[in-house]
Amino acid sequence: MSKDTLTITDNRTGKTYELPIENGTVRAIDFRQIKVSDDDFGMMVYDPAFTNTAATKSSITYIDGDAGILRYRGYPIEQLAEQSTFLETAYLLMNGELPTRAELDGFVHAITIHTMVHENVREFIDSFRYDAHPMGIVVSTVAALSTFYPEAKDIQDPEVRKLQAIRLIAKIPTLAAYAYRHRRGLPYVYPDNDLSYAGNLLNMLFRMREVRYEPNPVIEKALDVLFILHADHEQNCSTNAMRSVGSSHVDPYSATAAACAALYGPLHGGANEAVVRMLQEIGSPKNIPAFIDRVKAGDVRLMGFGHRVYKNYDPRASVIKRLAYQVFDEVGQNPLIDTAIELERRALADDYFKERKLYPNVDFYSGLIYQSMGLPMDLFPVLFAIGRMPGWLAQWEEMLRDREQKIARPRQIYLGSDKRDYQPISLRG
Ligand code: SDX
Repeated sequence: MSKDTLTITDNRTGKTYELPIENGTVRAIDFRQIKVSDDDFGMMVYDPAFTNTAATKSSITYIDGDAGILRYRGYPIEQLAEQSTFLETAYLLMNGELPTRAELDGFVHAITIHTMVHENVREFIDSFRYDAHPMGIVVSTVAALSTFYPEAKDIQDPEVRKLQAIRLIAKIPTLAAYAYRHRRGLPYVYPDNDLSYAGNLLNMLFRMREVRYEPNPVIEKALDVLFILHADHEQNCSTNAMRSVGSSHVDPYSATAAACAALYGPLHGGANEAVVRMLQEIGSPKNIPAFIDRVKAGDVRLMGFGHRVYKNYDPRASVIKRLAYQVFDEVGQNPLIDTAIELERRALADDYFKERKLYPNVDFYSGLIYQSMGLPMDLFPVLFAIGRMPGWLAQWEEMLRDREQKIARPRQIYLGSDKRDYQPISLRG
């Protein structure tokens, strides 16, 4: 009769060990009993970049990378993109259930009345160079928010945690817009509480001298759907940063700043900006064969392609590709779309990419939409951070409630020098 155990024989000693299997995994700590002598520390498992390590149990997001499935709290991303709103999805991620009408109205109201930031925050943003990258401003300013809400250090209080989560979701669009307006040398636009979450962001980004900003409903809806699609993605790099930094019990603003910093990287949330720069560099479909040759030679990466988990088409990319054409119908076609479509077609037909299971990911088309909305490329990762905020906060909350979690502190395989004595500089070669 089969048992949920793993039997291991250490051929160095001939000893056999039986490890329990739970949820299709074995506990790494169970390997520590495998020793060659009594003073042996015991066996560890080596997994650079955690390519095969479950660092946590979670109930928030489910991904099937081979089947191209993504669900938030069990709801398929395609249904949420079609029928939900970003704030409703944020509520779902953070609370585990879709809200009632009263719960949603209360949540939206709480977000709406927390969109303002202290005037010192505006002055802090003012102090950046005129050409500072908006993501650099946002990473710094999110961290600075911890100094405005010192009570946030009391992370053991659920009500304190809840209020900081509301503040972060509410204020990140304001910080994004202020960073953009600073870059453009334009006066800041304060939040308009009569507008939707996405509509207010557009207001703070684009309002000029008009008395009231009226968001384009197609753009407003597209932005809301993009935020839904970016809202969470289980244990990605920036979420791992949120959990790891948060495990030291630092305040959520400092942990979120770490998550923003991780997202800034071109291999992660910075890829949407890198995709548009790549398409601009390619220039036109006729240059695609030469570019693909450079990718195969290892000179460049096909940005917006590939994924650690998805070995199939990223389901978000499919929704975003359809959304792109809705935006283009409203504001005019992005001239780079033809190059993007042809590049995807050729890559998907090429053995180099098929063998490596490289498909378009969430970043391949999202930048084209943002660009068509009139947003500058360096704001794209900031827009990713706005969408990902509820996911980071839901994962942070789950980590703090998880009795199996404690401060994250991995071990290492030491390959450095053995003990040696200090040499005075006069004796060094
Ligand atoms: C996001 O984790 C998440 O969930 C992230 C995210 C989220 O929602 O949080 O989904 C958001 O970050 C999407 C990914 C955005 N990044 C990019 O588009 C940048 C380009 N893609 C890659 O650099 C890469 O695909 C990663 C970083 C996304 C995944 O890298 P892996 O899993 O570590 O894969 P790898 O680097 O080990 O590559 C495996 C092979 C290698 O070839 P060989 O060395 O075996 O010959 O595939 C090649 C790589 O060179 N490869 C690529 C490639 N991605 C991988 N070759 C060309 N172009 C690429 N884009």
